[in-house]
Formats: sequence, structure tokens, C-alpha cells
Amino acid sequence: MPIFKRKETTERILPTHIAIIMDGNGRWAKKRSLPRTAGHAAGSKNFKDIARYCNKIGLKYLTVYAFSTENWKRPKEEVDNIMKIFKEYLEDAKNFKDENIQVQFIGDRSVLDPEIQRLMKESEDASRDATGLHLNIAINYGGRDEIVHAVRSLINSNAKAEDITEEAISQNLYTASQPDPDFIIRPSGEYRLSNYLIWQSAYAEYWFSDILWPDFKPKDLEKAIDEYNRRNRRFGGV
Ligand code: IPE
Ligand code: IPE
Ligand code: MG
Repeated sequence: MPIFKRKETTERILPTHIAIIMDGNGRWAKKRSLPRTAGHAAGSKNFKDIARYCNKIGLKYLTVYAFSTENWKRPKEEVDNIMKIFKEYLEDAKNFKDENIQVQFIGDRSVLDPEIQRLMKESEDASRDATGLHLNIAINYGGRDEIVHAVRSLINSNAKAEDITEEAISQNLYTASQPDPDFIIRPSGEYRLSNYLIWQSAYAEYWFSDILWPDFKPKDLEKAIDEYNRRNRRFGGV
């Protein structure tokens, strides 16, 4: 697989920050007459492969949507299974540190199982000095919830009305001090954000595809990045 491809004479630009909505696990399983849990297991494996690939090509930031604040509406059995897969991933997360990937979790972790919270902190602490890919995993994450959380933090720090600036809100989001996502990828054939990074994605480029997440491979990521290179980002200018 070519890692750095050249487009005619100009070198391809890698977005600084890619965000992915890892959707379509359930439909992937259904197509194969498997339980939805098998889809989540396949999605989790694919996530590890894609994160490693992103690190290999030199991407600086990757943010993945693993569980939303709305996903609690699912049957308890499915939620429990997703949390079990997440825990297994965390137990294995030390491998990321060995690969120089810095892991950070975004979302409201306070309601998660205490053992999961402990493992999350452990993997963040263990990978803090990694200098490769910065990997944000969004778990119990909701964009609106994040903005409410940011405004509350500002008020709790006695901010005055004039202190509530775009910069101040950005600096109180879970993604404080990180660049906004340049490119948002959503496989699975849905054309919506589902409450993902709604503040940060104000000027992101979007890429949608019918591929179901467990089938989304590095070659598909490469195609998406090629498409990103054909976009003309103006940010309101000319
Ligand atoms: C994404 O796959 C995983 C989570 C939301 C946790 P889905 O489970 O939403 O898969 P589909 O959309 O039902 O196919
Ligand atoms: C978005 O997928 C959340 C994650 C991928 C974690 P959903 O499957 O929950 O989104 P909707 O319900 O189709 O909007
Ligand atoms: Mg879905």
C-alpha cells in the first residue's frame, strides 16, 4: 500500500485532524446473519487497524466516535456488550503506548463503570509522553453535552459575560488546545453528525460513504484523503 502518494507535481496534503464516526457495525453483522455484538467486535478490531495506519502515515490527530450520549437508549444487553468490548480494548491499550500513540478519552466519563474509568486514566497516563498520533476516543460523548459542560466550567471559574468568548469555550471543551477537525468521515450511508464535535466541526470538510465501518479499510481512508485534497477550503474568504 503506498503511504505517500504524489498528485501530479504537488505533494498530497494530510489533514492535521481527522474525525471518524464509526457507524454501521449492526448492519454489517445483520448482513452476515450474525448478532449485533459480532458487528461491534469487528468494528473494534477495525478501529485498532485504522488507528495504527493513521499513526504510520504520520497523522497528528484522530478522533473516533465510539459511544454517544444517545447510545444509552439501546437495549441494556447491547450497551453492556459495547462496554465489555471497550474494557477489553483498555486492557490491551498499553500496546498503543509501545507504538508511540497518545490516547485521550473525550466525553463524560463520570457515569461509566469505576473500573473502566480507572483503566481509561491508566492508559492516558501511560501514553502521555507518546509523540506519534494523538488519538481521541469519544465515549459517552455528545457535542451539546460538551458545550454545556464547557459553559458550566467557565461559570464555575467566575467568568464574566465578556469572558465568554469563542476562544474561552474552545479551551473548555474536552478537546481544549487541539486543532479543530479538518476532515470528518462517516461511513454507513448516513448523512448526519449525530451530535459529534458540533462546535469543533464548524469549518470541517465532510466525506460520506456507504461502506459499513468494519469494512472501512486503509485504502478507503486513502481515497477519502485524496478527495480532501480536491476540496477548496475558503473559511468564508474568497
Ligand atoms: C456504531 O454502529 C457503533 C455504535 C453506535 C456504538 P451501530 O451499532 O450504530 O451500527 P448500525 O448503525 O446499527 O448499523
Ligand atoms: C453515531 O452512530 C454514534 C457512534 C458511531 C458512536 P449512531 O448509530 O448512534 O447514530 P444515529 O442514531 O444513526 O444517528
Ligand atoms: Mg448506527
